[in-house]
Parts: sequence; structure tokens; C-alpha cells
Amino acid sequence: MSPNATLEPVIAFEGVRIGFDEGEVLHGVSLRVTSRETKILVGETGSGKTLLLKLAAGLLRPDAGRVMVLGQEISALREKDLLDFRRQVGFVFQEGALFDSMSVEENVAYRLREEGVDEAEIEHRVLEALRFVELEEAIDKLPGELSGGMRRRVSIARALISGPPIVLYDSPTAGLDPVTAQTIITLILRLRDTQGVTALLATHRVQDAFAMVHYRFDAESGRVVPAAQNGASAGPATSFVVLREGAVYFEGDYRAISDSADSYVQKFLL
Ligand SMILES: Nc1ncnc2c1ncn2[C@@H]1O[C@H](COP(=O)(O)OP(=O)(O)OP(=O)(O)O)[C@@H](O)[C@H]1O
Ligand SMILES: [Mg+2]
Repeated sequence: MSPNATLEPVIAFEGVRIGFDEGEVLHGVSLRVTSRETKILVGETGSGKTLLLKLAAGLLRPDAGRVMVLGQEISALREKDLLDFRRQVGFVFQEGALFDSMSVEENVAYRLREEGVDEAEIEHRVLEALRFVELEEAIDKLPGELSGGMRRRVSIARALISGPPIVLYDSPTAGLDPVTAQTIITLILRLRDTQGVTALLATHRVQDAFAMVHYRFDAESGRVVPAAQNGASAGPATSFVVLREGAVYFEGDYRAISDSADSYVQKFLL
């Protein structure tokens, strides 16, 4: 590791453009996420949040520009190398995206089985991941038998199964009541503060994202506690990006976004 390795971005978008039949959707996005940082992507529906997450996961390729992740230009990787790369990225899809006909165990184990990991190892890792999200008792259930919050926790367990250094969360609290949303936020804090993951998190609910700044997970007590105030011994960095129609409209830390006088940015702070 080079001495300044921690200063190199873990994820970098450089002038990323992508379009579909209807025309260009991302108009040259440049963003950097440093090690252990959580970058919050906020924007109206259709602003390009999910597209950016899919680009970071190597699920899509840009039409122009580069996507660099963990020192590799993933936008230039061959399909075979992309498969290896994706093991390093956990993706919590919008709405969870579980396989409805598969049990919780099969959903969480899916990636490991695809990779041909041996069954004893799979059993161990599935239990570990379900324990992390406190859902061991649901292991044999079908997604349809679970509440929305439980399904979301299963998708977090599935994203964690390969111990990825990067986790991409697509609107992880969307559609959940505030109490259930809080349990998901607690998991996200716990993952950040016990495993040191680097994250991109898309959301419509900026209030949820502020929890990433105001709280941390204390491993000793197993609880969420207030983060040190005034940034004195600030924990992992949290930064905010407001996307507007496929471009970065605003970028800054908590102070910058909460003090912003821009009326478009303010719409997301209500
Ligand atoms: N596969 C696709 N084919 C055509 N258009 C697409 C495709 N994927 C995304 N788009 C378009 O790109 C734009 C951005 O989509 P994206 O899913 O990234 O939005 P989003 O910010 O995640 O929205 P939401 O908040 O509703 O999840 C939308 O206009 C969408 O219709
Ligand atoms: Mg989306």
C-alpha cells in the first residue's frame, strides 16, 4: 500500500455519460468517494441515482468517461474480470429485489453458490450474515412471508455475503415507516463503523442520511450513540451530492448542505 493510499479515491467517476434510446441521461458526472466515506446521493426521481450505483458496481458501462473503483478502471474491464470485481461490491437494490420463489437462505447464499463455494462454508457465511441483520430465525422463510423491513434486511445480508469493502445502497429506507427505517439505518451505521465499508447511498430522505453524520455505532455497547459533536474527533466522512437531471448540482459536507441558501438544494432538506 502506498503511503497516501487512503487519500486515493475508492470510487471515482470521471466525466461519466450514459444514454438510452430517449437520449443522454447522465451528462458528464465526476465524483470521488474516499476510503470509509459514505457519499449520499440525493435527487428527484429520474435524476440518475440508480444509474450511478449500477455504474459503480460494473453492472452498466458508461458511453463516455471512466469509472474507477479500487484502483481499477472498471469501465474498461472484460466481462470475466468484472465477475471477480463484483465480489468486492455489495449492492442493496432499490426495493430489495429478492427472488420471490427462493427462501431467505437461498437468496443470501445465491452469489456464493454461483461461485461454487463449498456448502459448509456457505452455511457458515449465510448464518453470519443473517446474524448481522438479526434475522437468523427467518432463514427458511420466503420473501413473501416477511415484512418490508425484514426483506430489506435480507437484501443487506445478501450484499454482505462476500465481505465487500464497498456497499452501494439504493434507497434503503424507501417505503418503510420511520421506526423500521431506523433499524435499517442502524445496520448501515454498524456496517460502516465495525467493518469500515466505503459506501454510496441513494436516498430521497435526507433526514435518514443525516443520521450518518450525527451517530455512530458503538461496538462495545452494541448501540447507536451520538457522534462526537463539532467535528472534533469526527468519525468517517459523510458527504452529500444533489443530482439534478443527470448532473451534479451540489456537492458538500453536512455543514455545506444544511447551510445552503440554494432553493433547489433546500427542497431536499425539508
Ligand atoms: N435501462 C434503461 N433504459 C432506458 N432508460 C433508462 C434505463 N435506466 C434508466 N433510465 C432512465 O434514466 C433516468 C435516470 O434513472 P435512474 O433510475 O438512475 O433514476 P433515479 O434517480 O434512481 O430515480 P428514483 O429516485 O425513481 O429511483 C430515468 O429517466 C430513467 O428513465
Ligand atoms: Mg433509483
